[in-house]
Amino acid sequence: MIDRDLLASLRRDEEQRFVDLHPRSAHLAGEAERSLLAGVPMPWMTRWPGGFPVFVEAASGARLTDVDGNEYVDLCLGDTGAMTGHALPQVTEALVSRASRGITTMLPSPDAAWVADELARRFGLPTWQFAMSATDANRFVLRFARHLTGRPRVAVMDWCYHGTVDETLAVLDGDRVVARPGALGPQVSVADTTAVVPFNDVDALDRRLAQGDIACLLMEPALTNIGIVLPESGYLDAVREVTRRHGVLLINDETHTLCAGPGGATAAWGLDPDLLVVGKPIGGGIPVAAYGMSAEVADQLSGPMKGHEIDVAGVGGTLTGNALALAAVRATLSSCLREEDFAAAVPLAVRFTDGVSAVIAEHGLPWHVQRLGCRAEYWFCPPPRDGAAAAAAVDEELEGFLHLWCLNRGVLLTPFHNMALFSPSHHAADVDRHSEVFAEAVTALVRAAA
Ligand SMILES: Cc1ncc(COP(=O)(O)O)c(C=O)c1O
Repeated sequence: MIDRDLLASLRRDEEQRFVDLHPRSAHLAGEAERSLLAGVPMPWMTRWPGGFPVFVEAASGARLTDVDGNEYVDLCLGDTGAMTGHALPQVTEALVSRASRGITTMLPSPDAAWVADELARRFGLPTWQFAMSATDANRFVLRFARHLTGRPRVAVMDWCYHGTVDETLAVLDGDRVVARPGALGPQVSVADTTAVVPFNDVDALDRRLAQGDIACLLMEPALTNIGIVLPESGYLDAVREVTRRHGVLLINDETHTLCAGPGGATAAWGLDPDLLVVGKPIGGGIPVAAYGMSAEVADQLSGPMKGHEIDVAGVGGTLTGNALALAAVRATLSSCLREEDFAAAVPLAVRFTDGVSAVIAEHGLPWHVQRLGCRAEYWFCPPPRDGAAAAAAVDEELEGFLHLWCLNRGVLLTPFHNMALFSPSHHAADVDRHSEVFAEAVTALVRAAA
């Protein structure tokens, strides 16, 4: 259906347009090659479309300005890290105030208990700890789960993503668990650490957990890292029943599904996990994550937590729970990601899906757009049931072209997602700008080919 020669030629035009629009970024990219691996401070930044990354000058609310003075509607929002919108005055004020009184001391600050209470209120789990990133929090809860159950393996969903956690970079190849394509230097074979099951398949989960070697199931209530794959009706209840029956701890990773509401999908859908991880936006952009646990889990962990060797237990970290991070979370949770913020952001995501699905329908394309709260994403197939079906529809060339077309016209989408995230700082006109440029891109691709 997509004419690949036409796609390649349109892409070439957009690459040139990108170069013309970004001379200062090109210069800085050249300088960065001198001393930064691949010219970037973090590997994923090479995934932006265009021959080099755009260098950012400033970001505020839902707007980002690059060093060439180009302004963008930011639908990437730091791949969820800035889901609240950028440069929030309340967070900035709290950071300045806290930083001037000491940032990290290895002692609790008064904000810690306020934040834990607020997380308990939002997510329904009574007891909390902190981490520097959602990756770290996931590593810690997996370790706790293996400790509590005495079982060696963890279970995850096929095509999940939970950060750079070794055990979770695994997919199914037929019945075999193998390293996820692209995973660099696995420390041990994931087949020894991990069980992988397809999303939305209760029988497969039941069969695998019945083998008795699984400590925990770590999952997103909806997959958000291979497009958005929603749970089928009754699936999450069945997951809870099956995990309980097999003595497997259920961990909800709400790092992205926080887009479903102030207490993530767990609160929105009345879920009842044993542990819960949330990261990215809760610090308004400051690196911090949290994990909550049931009273039963907390009770079982209270012994080891007070043990003499807890500093070498493999959980925690020197800067973890620092006063600056907790001040950031307090300021963020008291002024953002609340019911009223979602009430403003979710209708914008609905408007986005309406705009995108109208274009898909107009051209009779076999694509779909899915939404979860204030997050929406289009994908190049009908709604898939599991991660493998979604992965089969990945189209890097098409995705790269659409992203570059949008970027060149002032709309930023997250690389490696066709995702748009909305905050209360966005406006209906921002959504309409995306709908317009998306329509133009698809028309250029499809009409010209017809
Ligand atoms: C569901 C989920 N959990 C955890 C993480 C890891 O977050 P971080 O990269 O901030 O450690 C990600 C990152 O995208 C994620 O999508």
